[in-house]
Amino acid sequence: MSVASPVSVQSGEANQHGYRPFRLGEFAFSRDEYFVYVEWPTGKHVMSADAFLKALQRDVAWQFFYGIVNFDGVVGTVNHYGTVDLFAGRYNDAYRKAELDHQENFGTPVIKATFEAMLDDWTNEGFDPFASPTETGSAFGDKHGDNRAAITRHRVTASRMVSVPGDEGLRSDDNGHPVNRQFADVGQDEPELHPAAGFEGEVSSFNLFAYLSRSPVTWNPSVVSVCGDSLYCPTTEEYILPIIHGNDRVEWFIQLSDELIWNVEDRDTGAARAKVTMRAGDVSAMPADIRHQGYAPKRAMLLVWENADPDLPGLISSGQLPSVPIQI
Ligand code: PHB
Ligand code: FE
Repeated sequence: MSVASPVSVQSGEANQHGYRPFRLGEFAFSRDEYFVYVEWPTGKHVMSADAFLKALQRDVAWQFFYGIVNFDGVVGTVNHYGTVDLFAGRYNDAYRKAELDHQENFGTPVIKATFEAMLDDWTNEGFDPFASPTETGSAFGDKHGDNRAAITRHRVTASRMVSVPGDEGLRSDDNGHPVNRQFADVGQDEPELHPAAGFEGEVSSFNLFAYLSRSPVTWNPSVVSVCGDSLYCPTTEEYILPIIHGNDRVEWFIQLSDELIWNVEDRDTGAARAKVTMRAGDVSAMPADIRHQGYAPKRAMLLVWENADPDLPGLISSGQLPSVPIQI
């Protein structure tokens, strides 16, 4: 097969359900009506197709994110910022002890092209992997159509701040961003600006709550402001974060509305470490040696504060920096 990419993707003929199989190194991927199957030399694994596609969508859209993206307790990726490990059982104590884990390293463009082709082939018409379960159709069944508009949608990454002239724009009814049904009570007024004479074009402000109330997606942090390495990445959440994120640095969470429950585990073994319930106004720091998955009983606004300093993973893994921001 061929895809619109300079990198070659290993794929084969569609099976009886219409889905093509994919290979990446010694990993083999296939899907049928309900499930995705992952095989590697020492094992095989099965995941629900909707859970797999939701995780795959985020891994692709976030360019493999910070640290580890676990699709579940077995398979996932580690970002080395230029190359990516694809693993099975690597961060699972039982697989490690049984020596059944497997990992391979790929250049980012190679794994990205394969994941994009798989996401494209396996996402049916009407299923949006970024949407909440009640706002999308089904992922299941024999292959029918595609949803390219959803899986390639623009990811907001401001270079300075949303609303600054020339940067990411505001959301409105007119540009296809209606207020979400669960944020109907969020005020839509914008701040008044009174810049001093001569500075009119240089000062910007916007209503972050109004902006988030119009987000069409869930569990998809947008970069809305940048100050050096400090990135404000707010997001709206509903149902379950489709990945289990393994940190390679500290992340701060500020709960802007409603409630989230976080399941926090040891990053390397998956052993339980904490349950954290965050209500509006709560702030937490997620340590660099954990993995976490969030649950949102209703649509909620969360500010994820990231430190994008590329030296952090090395400083933390070599012990030069602690894995927590403060020692109490
Ligand atoms: C996280 O892993 O920190 C994370 C990812 C996506 C979200 C929120 C938090 O929407
Ligand atoms: Fe995280």
